[in-house]
Amino acid sequence: IRRIAVFTSGGDAPGMNAALRAVVRTAAWNKLHVYGIERGYEGMIDGHFKRMERRDVANIIQRGGTVLRTARSMRFMTPEGRAQAADHLRAYDIDACIAIGGNGTFTGAKIFSEEHGIPFIGIPGTIDNDLYGTDYTIGFDTAVNTAIEAVDKIRDTADSHNRLFFVEVMGRHSGYIALHTAIGSGASSVLIPEANTNLEDLKTVLKKNKARGKLFSVVIVAEGHPMGGAAGIAAKIKDDLASMEPKVTVIGHLQRGGAPTALDRLLASRLGYAAVTKLLEGEENVAVGIVNDLVTLTSFEEAIYKEKKPQGDLIEMASILAI
Ligand code: F6P
Repeated sequence: IRRIAVFTSGGDAPGMNAALRAVVRTAAWNKLHVYGIERGYEGMIDGHFKRMERRDVANIIQRGGTVLRTARSMRFMTPEGRAQAADHLRAYDIDACIAIGGNGTFTGAKIFSEEHGIPFIGIPGTIDNDLYGTDYTIGFDTAVNTAIEAVDKIRDTADSHNRLFFVEVMGRHSGYIALHTAIGSGASSVLIPEANTNLEDLKTVLKKNKARGKLFSVVIVAEGHPMGGAAGIAAKIKDDLASMEPKVTVIGHLQRGGAPTALDRLLASRLGYAAVTKLLEGEENVAVGIVNDLVTLTSFEEAIYKEKKPQGDLIEMASILAI
């Protein structure tokens, strides 16, 4: 392997820049030529490649977003789009690609490498933490810290007015951000797709809490909850809890921005370094991850399709600590 390409794709995640820096510098150390592709698969299709050397990734470890920019590419879902992308990779003599992104990114990488024979290594970068094969994905810790900071502020006003707040956090179909935010912010309750939620139980808990002297409540709702987001759930129970003046806050894309936390910088650096070293050891079409503090490799197939769920004991603990 002499030349590699690296790109970020799908939703941006804080720490993607730290991963890119690690890839470029590890590659440079090993005398590889690196090309950065702009806007993920879109840039691969349009031929937006640029040579990246060690100085090109200076001063980015602390920056949120992705300096390579990103996109969700519909064109890459078509064989024609992928063929065009393959032509560009061949024109630049690229021997392998490193893809930083989530589920959609890995799915694209898997199909593409099967179709065109160009090896890929995946680096899990998504705030959702929904990829199998790594304890945490890049960006998750920062997103949870941002959400917790927001809930801390909501607590002030909820407390002042004795109100009930439904706070919606991101996570697509996954409850990780919601569960970790709820535990870290001391929320009264959390509603995630992985747990069966009974709204009658929720109403009972909130009323009981009030009777026990709890002056306000914050309920964290995962956006992907099958009963609807925070607005949907609040609408279903607002009549019964009208005296608590229910309010809804959607944190939204705030969770995707900001400087990566120390944990995310470290994770991203380790995974970027691992992606290049594993590629040089002959690995291909796998995702790198960290499980129990050790670098692990997982096939794209498993990373994409194996279910990753928060530990059941965390869900139980969250409700016990909220009494
Ligand atoms: O995958 C990351 C994520 O932020 C999800 O939590 C959310 O559902 C989705 O992306 C939002 O995507 P977009 O920014 O394209 O609207």
